[in-house]
Amino acid sequence: MSVSTLSVPLADDFHTHLRQGALMRAVTPLLKPSGVGLAYVMPNLKPPISNTEQALAYKAELEALAPGVEFMMTLYLGPELTPDEIHKAAKAGVAGVKSYPRGVTTNSDSGIESYTTYYPVFKAMEENNMVLNLHGEIPSDPNNDVCVMNAEERFLTHLKELHRDFPKLKIVLEHATTKAAVEVVESLGETVGCTITLHHLTLVVDDWAGQCHHFCKPVAKFPHDREALRRVIKSGHPRFFLGTDSAPHPRHLKEGPSAAAGVFTGPHVLPYLAHILESFGALDQLRHFACENGRRFYGVAQASSESVAVLVREPFTIAKEIHFTDDEGQERALVPFMAGKTLNWRLQ
Ligand code: NCD
Ligand code: ZN
Ligand code: ZN
Repeated sequence: MSVSTLSVPLADDFHTHLRQGALMRAVTPLLKPSGVGLAYVMPNLKPPISNTEQALAYKAELEALAPGVEFMMTLYLGPELTPDEIHKAAKAGVAGVKSYPRGVTTNSDSGIESYTTYYPVFKAMEENNMVLNLHGEIPSDPNNDVCVMNAEERFLTHLKELHRDFPKLKIVLEHATTKAAVEVVESLGETVGCTITLHHLTLVVDDWAGQCHHFCKPVAKFPHDREALRRVIKSGHPRFFLGTDSAPHPRHLKEGPSAAAGVFTGPHVLPYLAHILESFGALDQLRHFACENGRRFYGVAQASSESVAVLVREPFTIAKEIHFTDDEGQERALVPFMAGKTLNWRLQ
């Protein structure tokens, strides 16, 4: 007999894009109604969040928009980031540093070109127990047969080297999409974790080829890759946890001549999660995957028993779009993941 209600702690989303300006004001208030109680916030704004002051100012803006949500902040890895700034950031409670290889994804023009250049920064992070969050793709390079399909797999040598050189540094491989990535993370030590998104548990290549709202970086891969993501969650592995990588872009930038990368799962995190986990027989892992594993890895106390969400097994249809007014006063729309489709679970 299948259960009809599920009472779980609010989910921890260990990778989300809450943007800035009007878009931030549109998406941040959706966290609580979406069933999220902790948001680990990405720094790829324009300009990027690259120092402690900016991170704290950004955090204050987010807290005002979503009272009761716990925000964990990150800095953008770039030449401005010094070991001194890391010491300062750690004291101020900034949790991590996000590394974007140059040019691979949204707002990564100031991303990094070489990891060894940043070894003094990583050393300071290791000393201060700060986490290194990796966008794990190398830039496409036709001369070396690198494109979106193998950019993550080719990145894995960097992950192994970073872990070898900084075994005590906590490293998270973000938004893993391949069997190869899952197996490498499994093979590494206790200080290496991995986030998995909702959409990569759902999509394969055929779903984004020609479908701009499913286009994101890294792109969804083969069915056997999706199977590996599902398998590791079913296995209850403690170093794999939810990071939605919810990445809203207005409809006109998704549907334009060159689609912006990012899938918008922000509005309904817990209902999507229950629906998707149930579809491959892993509903019993919801609590581990979305409420416990990430906190344990990051060393954050488990959520208080008051922050509970109740999921009800009832049909729930996702809106076709969500409207907002942009910074120029234009009416814009965001298209949520699975727009117009019906989920099997809703939040009470
Ligand atoms: C993200 C974004 O839009 O900020 N896009 C994406 O496709 N995932 C950036 C990122 O996480 O790479
Ligand atoms: Zn990324
Ligand atoms: Zn992201």
